[in-house]
Amino acid sequence: MSRLIVISNRVSAPRADSATGAQGGLAVALAAALRDHKGLWFGWSGEKTEEFTGDIAFHRHGGVTSATIDLEEQDVDEYYNGYANRTLWPLFHYRIDLAEYDRSFAGGYERVNERFADTVGPLIEPDDLVWVHDYHLIPLGQQLRQRGLRNRIGFFLHIPWPPARLMVSLPFHEGLVLSMLAYDVIGFQTEEWLESFRHYVERELGGHCDPDGTIHVGDRSVHAAAYPIGIDYREFETAVASPKARKAFERMRQSAAGRQTIIGVDRLDYSKGLEERFLGYRRFLEEHAECRLKLFLLQIAPPSRGEVDTYEVIRERLDELSGRINGEFAEVDWVPLRYVNQGYGRADLAGFYRAAEIALITPLRDGMNLVAKEYVAAQDPKDPGVLILSRFAGAALQLKDAILVNPYSKEEISDAILQALNMPKAERVRRWRALNENVRREDVVAWRKAFVGALEGAESRSGG
Ligand code: G6P
Repeated sequence: MSRLIVISNRVSAPRADSATGAQGGLAVALAAALRDHKGLWFGWSGEKTEEFTGDIAFHRHGGVTSATIDLEEQDVDEYYNGYANRTLWPLFHYRIDLAEYDRSFAGGYERVNERFADTVGPLIEPDDLVWVHDYHLIPLGQQLRQRGLRNRIGFFLHIPWPPARLMVSLPFHEGLVLSMLAYDVIGFQTEEWLESFRHYVERELGGHCDPDGTIHVGDRSVHAAAYPIGIDYREFETAVASPKARKAFERMRQSAAGRQTIIGVDRLDYSKGLEERFLGYRRFLEEHAECRLKLFLLQIAPPSRGEVDTYEVIRERLDELSGRINGEFAEVDWVPLRYVNQGYGRADLAGFYRAAEIALITPLRDGMNLVAKEYVAAQDPKDPGVLILSRFAGAALQLKDAILVNPYSKEEISDAILQALNMPKAERVRRWRALNENVRREDVVAWRKAFVGALEGAESRSGG
């Protein structure tokens, strides 16, 4: 079996306690992919240095070697805070109003991708499969080819791909997309993002797409397909059954004191629709005064990307709005909104999910959304909760038995909460069974096998 080289901006090596640790969905997903293939995981350490040295730090855990480099301050500003999170992230989440176009960002992005190629290149052996992840590293495949690499190289995008008419607002968009033709396989989370990519290629690059998924531009061809990411279902089941999760469950149930819990868990990001969610919940409280004391919303939202202004702005707005809602509706013995800015480990979250009768997950746009899948996996089969999910999350294409809502509509969010509260047990069980079947079947193992299988099947450049 070929070795697998995973390259992503962040590296989170698998730990012995991964089922109960604080790793996010992406980290767990990639760790699972590396567990079978003897592999190497390469990326940024998260640390800043004064000057870039290219020194690689190696660590070894559970059969997986991680290799990380530090970046210099200017790199982090221009590449991570700049091009990745001020330009591509908003644009790819359909927010061209928030996207900033600055040549220094584009320059820093190119430079860091070159630095990644220079440092990881020598670690790659001729038979290795190379798997590049996410929007931080789109041109890395091309950079590696320019250094003579002939391996099979795949790219997976964890976030949406925007419609062609938005993509063209990015200066030098053609160059970025043309660089992707250096890959052998390109994976998207859903058919919807794939369709937007194919449309762009046909419209802007004059390419054509075969029904089997091969895309041709000039003399280059690449396989592009949808590979919806899943959770590590078995690992999550273990987390749900752990003593830590049971304790978290008890803690939630006790503090709920017989009230129904609606839960939301999201990184504090404008794409997650938190403001709209709070407004939808507010509308529910306004319209259904009789339900007020019977429930509360627990929104867990750990802050992220604090050096980017748009994140500061959304944080302030949510502080203000949550305070306003509580001020307006709270009673001496009831607070309608518990807004929590700290993050929790997976076992705690598993317990919280199981304790919550309703999950309210309403991103305005999301590549997939693994919280929705984890919520489903955490439920008690005999008495499961109800999932309310944005129709604009990639997961909505698989989780069709959730209550699907338009996250921009206060009315739809409010109606969905009422519907979930009143849903008969038989319907809850029926919907949950269908959801759970999907989450279990289309898990991270299936995802990894499908992607790596496609990469293995690609012809390597050396003709082998
Ligand atoms: C999304 C992206 C990941 C990223 C994660 C956390 O899920 O697709 O690539 O790692 O958010 O964001 P951060 O900026 O903290 O790495």
